[in-house]
Amino acid sequence: MVHFKTLNDINVKNKTVIVRVDFNSEIDPQTKQVTNGVRICAHAQFTLKELIEKGAKIVVLSHQGRKGDPDYTDLKQHAEILEKMLKHPVKYVDDLFNEEAQSAVKQLKEGEIVVLENVRSWSEETKKGTTEQQSKTALIQNLAPLADFFINDAFSVAHRDNVSMIGFTAVLPSVAGRIMERELTQLNKVLENPQHPCIYVMGGAKADDSLEISKYILHNNVADKLLLGGIISQLFMTAKGLNLGKGTMVFLEKKGLLDLIPGIQELLTHYSDKIILPVDIALNVDGKRLEIPVNNLPSEHPIFDIGTKTVEKYIEIISTAQSIVVSGPLGVYENNNFCYGTKTIFETIANSKTSCLAGGGNTIAALDQYNLTSKISYISTAGGALVEALMGKKLPGVVALETATETKALP
Ligand code: 3PG
Repeated sequence: MVHFKTLNDINVKNKTVIVRVDFNSEIDPQTKQVTNGVRICAHAQFTLKELIEKGAKIVVLSHQGRKGDPDYTDLKQHAEILEKMLKHPVKYVDDLFNEEAQSAVKQLKEGEIVVLENVRSWSEETKKGTTEQQSKTALIQNLAPLADFFINDAFSVAHRDNVSMIGFTAVLPSVAGRIMERELTQLNKVLENPQHPCIYVMGGAKADDSLEISKYILHNNVADKLLLGGIISQLFMTAKGLNLGKGTMVFLEKKGLLDLIPGIQELLTHYSDKIILPVDIALNVDGKRLEIPVNNLPSEHPIFDIGTKTVEKYIEIISTAQSIVVSGPLGVYENNNFCYGTKTIFETIANSKTSCLAGGGNTIAALDQYNLTSKISYISTAGGALVEALMGKKLPGVVALETATETKALP
């Protein structure tokens, strides 16, 4: 159980607050423009709006991309998007902690907001270190003395020990922003306190991540049933001794995924009643969908979706759920001939009214494509951080927040 303080525990009126958000967004590599502002919107709608209304002086820190990558940009356009979303002036300063940034912070008045330069413009931001070590770096030493509170709202970066994520917590009273709070509360619901039966629906291409999540949720009795699709289901079928055929095996081997088989076999030994695999699949035969029972494998054609009988079976199990976690599409959902499994299962979950946590880039994109976003009870803003949390890992950003709030009396 994570213990952390929130905005309810501090009085921010006329106080300077440093807010670490995650504005890291999809960027068009040609135009360098933000193509999806959903994360900016989340921080704006909840934490930043509340801070403005409460009369805080707000300093916003974020990263965008990684230096050298096509999605690395400054935060000028993010500040403009934020201004439009908030319908409130937002200043942008192209400096992180030097004179210009410091002077902008000092000049802030109640309810005013300044976005500073991309924290990753400073090379030390991503250097590894403890909270103590990070707190001695230039970013913290220059900005913390100008602030009263640190608010961490960037759950989706909580798996990083970056300076801006953990350094301030050693020197400033620190609390979770509303997005951080929502994410941690939802995670707590599905990991520590799940409503049973709790059904995990897992697919996608990141089979190594899916296996680590499977291990954690099965060993810890979090999931009652694990419904598999995507690449991970192909590995489980192989581990069970099924010969999927050349089309699939060459692909799995090329990706180096066959090394995961021993770990999967061990899970199957202990939890075969909880792990539910496809009974039929859809093959890609020259772009066309051909469904066959798994017993009719091997095939030279690659597997692109779960089959109709599997969908029926999964729907029946989903109808018994009291809570659901969805991570990853069940087939190649981008292709109309192979979206049936993902679309039908996601629609079933969305219409079931059962409490559901969904996350991950492709899951969110698929839900969006089928206009289901508003029907899912909670969609995480995180990718990697959510995956690591579902694996049961401690996230440095969250640990720093917990330690900070344990050790510091808040004014
Ligand atoms: C994310 O998009 O997952 C976060 O913003 C973290 O980004 P990173 O993987 O570059 O640290």
